[in-house]
Amino acid sequence: MFLVLSASLNPDSRSRILAKACADELRSTGREVTMFDLSDTPLPACDGAAAYGDENVKRLSSLIESAKAIFIASPVYNFDVNAAAKNAIELTGQAWTEKVVSMMLSAGGQGSYMSAMGLANSLMLDFRCLIVPRFIYATGDAFEGDSLANDEIADRVKTLVKETTRLADAVILSADKCR
Ligand SMILES: Cc1cc2nc3c(=O)[nH]c(=O)nc-3n(C[C@H](O)[C@H](O)[C@H](O)COP(=O)(O)O)c2cc1C
Repeated sequence: MFLVLSASLNPDSRSRILAKACADELRSTGREVTMFDLSDTPLPACDGAAAYGDENVKRLSSLIESAKAIFIASPVYNFDVNAAAKNAIELTGQAWTEKVVSMMLSAGGQGSYMSAMGLANSLMLDFRCLIVPRFIYATGDAFEGDSLANDEIADRVKTLVKETTRLADAVILSADKCR
């Protein structure tokens, strides 16, 4: 199963459009997909204590653990992913261990292009995730209403799905051989 985590809490979110395009592409290539939308499934704020026992947190942790790879779709807020994405990762910590992770960001302008790197570093260094060295970065002009209106971004979503599934398949195959 491939997990698509949509982090925006905005009802008119653009990164959710990227998440849906990614999920559609995964399905069209015959992959099983689970979409987890933080605007539909609220999580408590991470307190480093009781919040880990929340049922939604436990569900998300178990989806992350069983996913072959995780696609994170997030808004850029203050040159980072939004607080909801970071909170979800704080709450699910070790579930991310050695996962293949891809990122899709929607932003207000081109200047925050490198803003995915804080999250990438944390996932790599804290949890030894394999970050797919290709990500989607889209600004407002790539969207029209609730659809993607930019062929180049649509192609990049397809390429991201292809590269992520290829990498995830290879990692899982090699892990099986090492057992
Ligand atoms: C609190 C806040 C902070 C933001 N910070 C940035 C930023 O640092 N860089 C940027 O390019 N856009 C920034 N934006 C614009 C959002 O990234 C943009 O509106 C994006 O489409 C939001 O994603 P969403 O539609 O999926 O919620 C910010 C928006 C908000 C509300």
